[in-house]
Amino acid sequence: MDNRRWISWLILNLVVASDKVSAIFVDEPLLYDTFPPDFIWASATSAHQIEGAWNVDGKGPSIWDTYTSQPGIVAEGATGQTACNSYYFYQKDVDALKSLNVSHYRFSISWPRVLPNGIGQVNQPGIDYYKNLIAALKVANIQPMVTLYHWDLPQALEDMGGWLNASVADWFEEYARLCFTQFGDDVKIWVTLNEPWITAWQGPKYGPGTYTYQAGHNLILAHAKAYRLYESTFKASQQGKVGIALNVNWFFPGSDLIADKDAAERALQFMGGWFANPIFGSGDYPSIMKLKIGEKSAQQGFNQSRLQENTAEQKPWQKLLVPGSADFLGINHYTSSLTVNQPSNINDVSYESDQDLYSYYDPSWYGSGSPWLKITPFGLRNLLGWLRDKFNNPEMIITENGCSDTAGNLDDMLRIYYYKHYINNVLKAIKTDGVKVSGYTAWSLMDNFEWRAGYNEKFGLFNVDFSSPELPRTAKASARYIAQIIHDNGFRSDQPCNNYPISK
Ligand SMILES: *[C@@H]1O[C@H](CO)[C@@H](O)[C@H](O)[C@H]1NC(C)=O
Ligand SMILES: *[C@@H]1O[C@H](CO)[C@@H](O)[C@H](O)[C@H]1NC(C)=O
Ligand SMILES: *[C@@H]1O[C@H](CO)[C@@H](O)[C@H](O)[C@H]1NC(C)=O
Repeated sequence: MDNRRWISWLILNLVVASDKVSAIFVDEPLLYDTFPPDFIWASATSAHQIEGAWNVDGKGPSIWDTYTSQPGIVAEGATGQTACNSYYFYQKDVDALKSLNVSHYRFSISWPRVLPNGIGQVNQPGIDYYKNLIAALKVANIQPMVTLYHWDLPQALEDMGGWLNASVADWFEEYARLCFTQFGDDVKIWVTLNEPWITAWQGPKYGPGTYTYQAGHNLILAHAKAYRLYESTFKASQQGKVGIALNVNWFFPGSDLIADKDAAERALQFMGGWFANPIFGSGDYPSIMKLKIGEKSAQQGFNQSRLQENTAEQKPWQKLLVPGSADFLGINHYTSSLTVNQPSNINDVSYESDQDLYSYYDPSWYGSGSPWLKITPFGLRNLLGWLRDKFNNPEMIITENGCSDTAGNLDDMLRIYYYKHYINNVLKAIKTDGVKVSGYTAWSLMDNFEWRAGYNEKFGLFNVDFSSPELPRTAKASARYIAQIIHDNGFRSDQPCNNYPISK
């Protein structure tokens, strides 16, 4: 056991012994009440995770097509080359959505399917695919909620520096213009970027601690340019909304020490505030990020902060573009952790080390099929309250929330437990805490290509039989449970699954 692990082991045991944080998840009482009228109920997927058809009808390769073609990267050599084959089987997806009675379907457009080189030549079959999907949704009375960028950057743009090239915001604006022009008459909710935190931090080449912030900077600019384009050119006629989907965990302090409470707040600011504060807050990065990264950069011998300097010419976006560049805040939320203060090694130049903290899970929390996902429903309510307070109670849509297992079984009682308690915490946030949440999106509609985890981590409300060429989608018990909540627009005390975690 190295030092860090020993210290965290010690703290963990102290926390467990004091039994402070873990107890709140046990038998949390449900609120029986309804969501506001016109509440958005949705389920979600993303292009690379479901479409397949990776190299047909003129589609260009994305960075994920390239990435998964290298051996040893993805579990069991899995790829998204076929996935759920939704490029051909999209009607099956629409049928599944219809049986849930959702009002909206959140899906993403594959940038290289409509612009094979990222910019320039348009691929008409790609446009037609999304037009056909939107038409099928219309027949089913389901509204599209469309993500422009869910991680599948055209490889041609990656070859020119990708998110590190300052031109990327202009490339993204061109792509957004195409999508608004082609689909905007039917799409009234747009999400520019899905989880820019992942792109900036976990994008394969964006380490160690400079490129991460540079990519983050360009992502914010790209988002803002797309928003302003919609605002100036499309909004008057199309009457839609444009937001961004940020993934934010909740961080419980690991103890009552002030230093640990500060560490938990710092973790929230580094994860959520990084993108939310420029767009929904002061227009600049959170002050704790500027302070920490500035101090460390100086100690590490950089002649300026690795986070962009706060000068007018380096931040033209501060005044013009970025503040207020969203009609709603999309939140992707899955899990929580415990966080303690822990100064990091100054020689370690990285986003993680900049935070001077250590996060871990309470072993009493339920797990899932994903090592990073522990079931902590109350964390979502805390997070929504935190966002309300920090960003002046913006309109929020839960753009993702869900749970994995590795079995894909139809009697998925763990997922029912998860949805029941997380959705109920959203209800409490709205009814009790006055948070403005206008929609909820279950991730995911069906089992699909879960990035580096391949097909092992299954998040679906519908099981997909990947051994059959027809890839049939079959409702799990959780699909019926969600359909019930949607039907009731909330929680009824006489609905058996609300009172017993295990389906009949
Ligand atoms: C960045 O993009 C421009 C085109 O906008 C290109 O000329 C330049 O070579 C790119 N930079 C890198 C490092 O590839
Ligand atoms: C800062 O360092 C970079 C190299 O890391 C150098 O090119 C630049 O001139 C330096 N700027 C100042 C103001 O010293
Ligand atoms: C679907 O939802 C609508 C309201 O949005 C409701 O009137 C209808 O009964 C629901 N259908 C089913 C099958 O639950």
